[in-house]
Amino acid sequence: MNKISIRLMSETDFDAVVEIDKRIVKASRDAYYEMKFDKLFKSKEFIPTSLVAEIEDGKVVGFIIGELYMGEYGISRDGATLDTIGVDPDYRYNGIGEQLISEFFYHLRDLGVKKVNTLVDKDDARLIQFFKANKFSPSKNVINLERSL
Ligand SMILES: CC(C)(COP(=O)(O)OP(=O)(O)OC[C@H]1O[C@@H](n2cnc3c(N)ncnc32)[C@H](O)[C@@H]1OP(=O)(O)O)[C@@H](O)C(=O)NCCC(=O)NCCS
Repeated sequence: MNKISIRLMSETDFDAVVEIDKRIVKASRDAYYEMKFDKLFKSKEFIPTSLVAEIEDGKVVGFIIGELYMGEYGISRDGATLDTIGVDPDYRYNGIGEQLISEFFYHLRDLGVKKVNTLVDKDDARLIQFFKANKFSPSKNVINLERSL
């Protein structure tokens, strides 16, 4: 396995991120990532927290996108969200996901973040297991409410 390095995501990682996501969800979500990248890189108040994993030749093989809470939902400002994580299916089971999470936390700790929330589909047992293995547990403070229409 190639040496993996983790670095801050930049605007030029757009194509690589979209391509990895396409391989995961088997659909193109360009519009979603355009909106995400606009928010991440065009806002003046934006504090960079999102990361990519690359192999020695510079190929991006994984990413993690997160955001700091700025008071949303009344959640305190020392929290953050982990929006999306993705590792290229050809490079899985090499600890890249774990490395992305641990660097993400290292970076957020420096920014004074005390808690990170993420939403997972309750039927996605593999992803839930992955988060459990990375020390996530069901929130005691936040309830995800919904109403059908
Ligand atoms: C979840 C995900 C990020 C994990 O990435 P990864 O790089 O394979 O993660 P890791 O290698 O750190 O760990 C994966 C598993 O492999 C195991 N593992 C890690 N290194 C290993 C190795 N060398 N050999 C065997 N197993 C290994 C880990 O224990 C872990 O097991 P678990 O899932 O049962 O906890 C990846 O599978 C993914 O992108 N999934 C899709 C996520 C998704 O749906 N995203 C879009 C919407 S948010």
